[in-house]
Parts: sequence; structure tokens; C-alpha cells
Amino acid sequence: MADGGYDVSDYCDIDARFGTLADADALIADAHGLGLRVVIDLVANHTSSEHPWFTAALAAAPGSPERDRYFFRDGRSGGEEPPNDWISAFGGSAWTRVSEPDGRPGQWYLHLFAPEQPDLDWDQSAVREAFDAVLRFWLDRGVDGLRVDAAPAMAKQPGLPDAGHVPGARFESRTWVGNPHWDVDGVHDILRRWRAIGDGYDGDRLFVTEAVVRDPERLSRYVRPDEMHTSFNFDYLTAPWEPRRLRTVIDESIAALDRVGAPPTWVLSSHDETRHVTRFGRADSSAATMGFDTGRPPADLDLGLRRARAAALLTLALPGSAYLYQGEELGLPEVEDLPDEALQDPTWERSGHTARGRDGCRVPLPWSGDTTPFGFTTEGIAPWLPQPTSWAALTVAAQGADPASTLSLYRAALRLRRSVPALHAEPLSWVSSDDDVLAFDRGPAFRCVVNLSDRSIDLGGQDRVLLASGPCSGSLPPDTAAWLSSPGEE
Ligand code: NOJ
Repeated sequence: MADGGYDVSDYCDIDARFGTLADADALIADAHGLGLRVVIDLVANHTSSEHPWFTAALAAAPGSPERDRYFFRDGRSGGEEPPNDWISAFGGSAWTRVSEPDGRPGQWYLHLFAPEQPDLDWDQSAVREAFDAVLRFWLDRGVDGLRVDAAPAMAKQPGLPDAGHVPGARFESRTWVGNPHWDVDGVHDILRRWRAIGDGYDGDRLFVTEAVVRDPERLSRYVRPDEMHTSFNFDYLTAPWEPRRLRTVIDESIAALDRVGAPPTWVLSSHDETRHVTRFGRADSSAATMGFDTGRPPADLDLGLRRARAAALLTLALPGSAYLYQGEELGLPEVEDLPDEALQDPTWERSGHTARGRDGCRVPLPWSGDTTPFGFTTEGIAPWLPQPTSWAALTVAAQGADPASTLSLYRAALRLRRSVPALHAEPLSWVSSDDDVLAFDRGPAFRCVVNLSDRSIDLGGQDRVLLASGPCSGSLPPDTAAWLSSPGEE
């Protein structure tokens, strides 16, 4: 748990803190019984430093097959300096020096993330073959798919050249786009190998990559017909609440993915970025990846929630698949005042306490009751991150009983998304509108209108409104979206 579980010491077991393999089997069976699919995270760019491969590598000699599974290299300047200038996602050098078995300072190993997450060398056939077995282990157990963590990191440019950072830089490579250890073409060989394994299974098995890359064209490479089925869309996730930027991202995403025959995808939040209720309430409403947006001015949370609700209707009306991050259906804001001593994200320590990291979007959900742990765990047990007392009003129980709540809005939107045929079949076509209004049809019978302007706009009749993200009586207020049953008259 050096990085929220993204440091795996045994790929074929469950951490005892979460249960057992029998619990996993029961969960998969229960989910299937409810018509739900289970997709699990595959963290294959790096292992935990407690993985037996890594402890064996530490005990073995430089140049040994045990070390070859990872990137062990001699340092520069007589061994004193890291082998190159690469920077870790959490800040500081991406290399850590080891003590050799005889106790002397020795080689360095690469970790693009925390030191407890050594990178595997995917050019090694031993690594590739071992992971084939890991995929089969979980697919055989009945999981419906895999989310491929940090996919662009899995191939590195031969010779591990410098990235060209300013000497002493600790954070320049935050998104890593254009770095010699990111989005290198060799990644695609690994993805094709996995797709072939998945295709050998019956039923629908889904692969989704986490790939923060330069643009939709680079993203489309991850979802070519023999690679992954789908990929998170970070251009959409990081886009600010601005009509022109949103429209450009939507158009470019649809066009680029269509060229390779893949469906577009949409996502507003994840466990790595500030929750979008909070970011949409800031003057700069774009998202910084991996929790590096510390120091931004306080958010107007009422404004943020209005926009987040409108963004939900925008997102769920777009063609393709939508990913929701737990808690957005409750309209949860980022918890920005977690006490320092509660912070667990490695970013906090690695940044020398300058970036607080991602804990604020990971606080356990409030289910019921008036006090913490709000039904998340047994009364009297403190959840792993403290929940704000104000969340009493945001519990699932409280919101489920309120037709105007964000939870009720999501439930209604998801029900309609399933039942309105146009939302499954029809392409998106933009409707001419003011520059700061996003309006599009999905076929002749469905229209989505999102008002990003600062004035109300006429909807041409209340009777056409299927669902609205806020109060709306024939005219649509600012920062509000509506789904209409037919385009009506212009
Ligand atoms: C991406 C995950 O979403 C993030 O939480 C994690 O820190 C890194 N990959 C490293 O595994």
C-alpha cells in the first residue's frame, strides 16, 4: 500500500486487508447474478518492491537474470549519480541506489512511480510469459475485463536516453508526454499479445487502458482493432468548463477513434484528479493529473455542483461509453482540508510537502447515518481517510429519498440512457447555437442542450424536457443542461 495498492507483491492473490480469493470469487458471482460485470486493475509496468522477483534481484549480482527483469544500471559520475535524468511521477529522481549484498553502495534501479514500485523490463521474455499466466489466472476466475494501468510506461526507448530536463528539476515530467519512457511504440506489442489472450476466452472480455497521451490520434493507437477495446479519455477529463474546448475535444475524440473503429469514451473524474465538483467551481477549471494542482484558489462549490450536474448530462448523452468515478453520483467535492497526518499519497512526502496529492478524492463514500463512518464500515471504526461531518447530507440514504438530489439525477439519466434507443444508435450532430451553448442531436428524436453562458436560453417548450440538471421551466438557466425528447423548431 505504498501507492494505494498500485504496488503488487502477488498478482494471484488478494491482500489480506481486503479479503481472500474466495471473497473475490463470491464477489464476481454476486455481481454476475445482478447483471454487473467486474473489471480488475492490471498493474504490470511495475511490481511492489516486496515482490519475490525484486527481493531476488536485490540479493543477486549485477548482470544476473534476476536483475534483468527490472532496470538495474550503474550510476553516472563513478556510480554516484542516477543513470539518467528521468523524474518520478511523485517527484524527484526516478532512480534509487541499492546496497549490494556485500553492503557496498551499488547499482540503481528505475521506478517511474514510487521507489516501492520498481519498473519491469518488458523486453524480457520471462516478464511477458509470467504476465500471460496472470491474465489467464483472472480471466479463468471469471473477471470480465482488465484495466491496464500506466499502459504508455511499459516500453522505454532503447539505451534509456536523458529526457532533457533542466538539471535539478523535480516535477517537469508530470504528464511525461514526449518523454523517452512514455508512449514508446513497443507498448503496442504488449497490448496485442494481451488482446490475443482475451480473444481466446468466451463471452465479452473488455480491456481498457489508462493512457495519458498527447492527443486523440496517439490515443487511437491504443484501441486499434487488435489492441485494447477502449481507453480512458484524459483530454475530456482535463478539459475546462469552456464550450469551445469541450466541443473541440468531443469532435477530435470521436473522429480519431472512429478512424480505428473504436468507440469514444468520456470521463470527468478519477482517483487521480481533483473531484470535478471542486475543479468546476474554480476560475481555472482544467484538471491537473496526479494531484498536482495544490495551491489553486478556493472553489465556489455551489457553482461547481451546478456545472458538475450539467456535465453529467453532457457526458451521458455523448456516443460511446462513459466512466463514472465513485462518489460523483453523490456530487461529492474534493476533501481539501484533510489533516497532514492523514495524508497517504506518496506525492505528499516525495514533493517535500508541497503537493498534497490525491487523497482528497479518495475519501470513503458516505452511505447512511449522521456521523462518520456513514455506513462505510462498522460503527466505531475510523475509515482509512477521515470523512467530513458535512457529508451527513450527502449520504446515499439521504439523497435516495430526495428527487432533486444528484443521486436521483444520475439514476434518472442512467435509466434514460438505457431506454432511449437514440442514445445507443444515433451519431452526434451539432445544432447551431450560441458559441457558449453546446447543443447536439442524437437522431431526430433526442437533443441535449448545455448552457455554458451567463444567461438563460429558451428551450421552446417545457413539455419536451425529459430531464434537466437543475430547475428549468421552458428556459434553461446558466450552467444547466437538459435532455429534450425531440429537436423541435429552431
Ligand atoms: C495510475 C493509477 O491510476 C495511479 O493511481 C497510480 O499511482 C499509478 N498508475 C501507478 O500505478
